[in-house]
Amino acid sequence: MSAQPEARVALDDRPVLVLDFGAQYAQLIARRVRECRVRSELVPHDITPDEVLARNPYGLILSGGPASIYADGAPRLDPRLLSLGIPVLGICYGMQAMADALGGDVARTGGAEFGKTELDIRGGVLLHDVGEVDTCWMSHNDAVVRAPDGFGVTASTPSTPVAAMEDPERGLYAVQFHPEVQHTPRGTDMLKNFLTRACHAPATWTALAVIDEQVELIRAQVGDAGVVCGLSGGVDSAVAALLVHRAVGEQLTCVFVDHGLLRAGEAEQVVETFGDHFQVPLVHVEASERFLGQLAGVTDPETKRMRIGETFIRVFEEESRKLEDARFLVQGTLYSDVIESGSKTAAKIKSHHNVGGLPDDIDFELCEPLRWLFKDEVRRVGEELGLPDEIVWRQPFPGPGLAIRIIGEVTSERLEILRHADAVIREEIRRAGLEREIWQSFAVLPAIKSVGVMGDARTYEYPIILRAVTSEDAMTADWARLPYDLLERISSRVINEVAGVNRVALDISSKPPGTIEWE
Ligand code: XMP
Repeated sequence: MSAQPEARVALDDRPVLVLDFGAQYAQLIARRVRECRVRSELVPHDITPDEVLARNPYGLILSGGPASIYADGAPRLDPRLLSLGIPVLGICYGMQAMADALGGDVARTGGAEFGKTELDIRGGVLLHDVGEVDTCWMSHNDAVVRAPDGFGVTASTPSTPVAAMEDPERGLYAVQFHPEVQHTPRGTDMLKNFLTRACHAPATWTALAVIDEQVELIRAQVGDAGVVCGLSGGVDSAVAALLVHRAVGEQLTCVFVDHGLLRAGEAEQVVETFGDHFQVPLVHVEASERFLGQLAGVTDPETKRMRIGETFIRVFEEESRKLEDARFLVQGTLYSDVIESGSKTAAKIKSHHNVGGLPDDIDFELCEPLRWLFKDEVRRVGEELGLPDEIVWRQPFPGPGLAIRIIGEVTSERLEILRHADAVIREEIRRAGLEREIWQSFAVLPAIKSVGVMGDARTYEYPIILRAVTSEDAMTADWARLPYDLLERISSRVINEVAGVNRVALDISSKPPGTIEWE
């Protein structure tokens, strides 16, 4: 007899709220909490006590921030948040704001402390079982020089006498250093101590719990109406579609618009995975001719993006109108997109078009089952749902596809060259075991040719540019230090196997100032 499936945990929607005081690490704190299997949400620092109480959180974490608490316009901490009977952990700026609110002294020490430093630990709830000495990551100018009354100092560093302090009676904890970054090796244990010993939050946030929860929510939202989902071939839309399919079965129809700008084998894989394996009703629209027609003669990157975006929306619209009773549209929006769109508008660098994205003027209600998840959590849910590794671990791929990796006009001949070179690069990166480690690795086809010699003959052909980057979130990126022997294999295979190419060049620009894609 086969074993019973693992018992499903009871759903628990009480979060730990991370108050964002403007730190670059605020999202990372929320992720670390979730890695400890506790639901966490990022909220603005000026959330009111009533709003907090309405969420019934297990605890609050005050993030760091770039400001000095003495700076004009520095984000203020509402002191009432410290006396709601909810445990609070202040990190860096969060610690200083807490100390300031409770009558401690925060000083401009004159000596900034940045980088790894040794932490002398005296015990306490937060640092329980962490050892006597540990390394921690500091990044601050101001510091608490006298803890508020009632607090015990639980750790110090050579230049920061109050590196950690706590008042367990009132449920208040604070650290000057950053437990959320990797350079504080026991940082996750410290967060765990806060979550379990101070907040008593059960560790129930797992991929299984997320699936159960979302399936229920989707059923409640959708009822017996029809749902349509645009599949792009990427992991987000795939996981969103499978979640909805698990919830409402055949009420879901997936529409896969093949714009002819995908990588080798991708369209086939979508059809095989969804239509054949998962038996999701699937409309496969082969529209490459239409897209190529729209791109004929276009060389300007923004015009390319606009044409692809528009055409996609029109095709998607035409197909979804044919479906009877489709009232809901599934979107693969992630939590990072939700946070991002809530923040101040950044300068527009490129108009991102998420194929499978929202048609502006289409008459649907939205169903966004991933809007509480970070990318790594989406991948875990995908694995749990049985999605093949090649989709779960696929490197990010832009909506406009290969078109923005072809400089100049997109023609079927140039697409063929790029697609072939890209397939060779992907295969070699996979063989080298680097596919997951590298954020993105791909080929770019520029609009120039150069002279070469093959056999005894002169050639005049395209180069292929190899772009491979490491990144955490695509906001910044560094060029990947690929081993020379791998570079050699890629170069020799691309030149020998891809007709029309006689040279391989390597892009060694970081982002910024470069971007990951070339257009
Ligand atoms: P850049 O080139 O701006 O890209 O550094 C950052 C990340 O976004 C991806 N990208 C896109 N994704 N639609 C998408 O869905 C787009 O229009 C688009 N443009 C860029 C890019 O591949 C990288 O991961």
